[in-house]
Amino acid sequence: MERTLAINIPENDKYYDIYINNEPVESLYKDLLIRTKNRKRLIVFSEKVYDLYSKNLPFPKNEIFVLKDGEEQKNLKNYLKIINLLIKNKMTRKDVIIAIGGGVAGDITGFAAATYMRGINFIQVPTTLLSMVDSSVGGKTAIDMNSAKNILGCFYQPECVFINLNFLKTLDERQYMSGLGEVLKYAFIEGNCCNDDPKSLFEFLSINSSRILSRDLYFLEKLIAICLTYKINVVRADEKEAGLRKVLNLGHTLGHALETHTKYKKYTHGEAVIWGMTLIFKWALKNCYIDTVYYKAAMELIALYGFKPLNENIKTDKIVDLMLLDKKAETGKIKLIVPSGARVVTEKEITNFEEFKLWLAEQ
Ligand code: GLY
Repeated sequence: MERTLAINIPENDKYYDIYINNEPVESLYKDLLIRTKNRKRLIVFSEKVYDLYSKNLPFPKNEIFVLKDGEEQKNLKNYLKIINLLIKNKMTRKDVIIAIGGGVAGDITGFAAATYMRGINFIQVPTTLLSMVDSSVGGKTAIDMNSAKNILGCFYQPECVFINLNFLKTLDERQYMSGLGEVLKYAFIEGNCCNDDPKSLFEFLSINSSRILSRDLYFLEKLIAICLTYKINVVRADEKEAGLRKVLNLGHTLGHALETHTKYKKYTHGEAVIWGMTLIFKWALKNCYIDTVYYKAAMELIALYGFKPLNENIKTDKIVDLMLLDKKAETGKIKLIVPSGARVVTEKEITNFEEFKLWLAEQ
């Protein structure tokens, strides 16, 4: 099983490959050594991946920084530790940082790479489903503050992405489900993402749920390739999220607010996104942006993957305040990506906060 996808971003004349395979992890090690030959390296490993795979990826100790797992680790303190290591190892722009882990490792490493000496080479090796289908591609890098998720960050593309499907075999179940949350999102926005190359992810997910839930690598490879093809189409058209890329944020404005509100500890990103999407589907139905038939089909797909409603007693004032800090917001306005038809979404502004808060409190 081997496939290479390419992403080109005309806006900044950037081109890179995404290599997908299920070769033994040792062969990934060889690929990384070849790719980074004659350059200094710093490898930022997620702790779980390091514990499981350091024997298969035996980089010298002085090239390694192990990052604890959890969104709360994507912070200023760890960012500075990475920067200090780059300085200590006297790394220059010609050298390279490699992130091996999930979205947390990829985001913080990407941000360090983007800012160290105004930009050092960077390779993404995503090891979770979520980072394979989404965060490792497209160049979003960031760290969180207590007050807001991804509030310090920039767009900075990696030089390439290596996806080895074997990592999915050891991914813990909750993290795997978190990735599926992001995968379901693509099914609800696919009409915005594929122009001349329509693939029905919605149907693929409906028909193959048992194989996907049992992590059949053959189906996962196809699934990841469909999601990434959508993502590439979107990023190619709008790298800096001025328009089309906003569709990738379906469920995220509410989801990020919930993650921040619960201090990044209570829910995985995918759980928060599923919560946000479920609410926004209800909002879309209430406002007649979608019909009942599509609403039910979407909710059935979410239920098919075993996602249950969260039992969260949310403070609606706080959630709405956090939504105002969202990066898609304009001062005093909340803009949300909302389903507007079968598998398509559009941006809508919430004009009446009080009405929205009352509605949210009733859910
Ligand atoms: N994760 C959403 C994006 O890359 O734009």
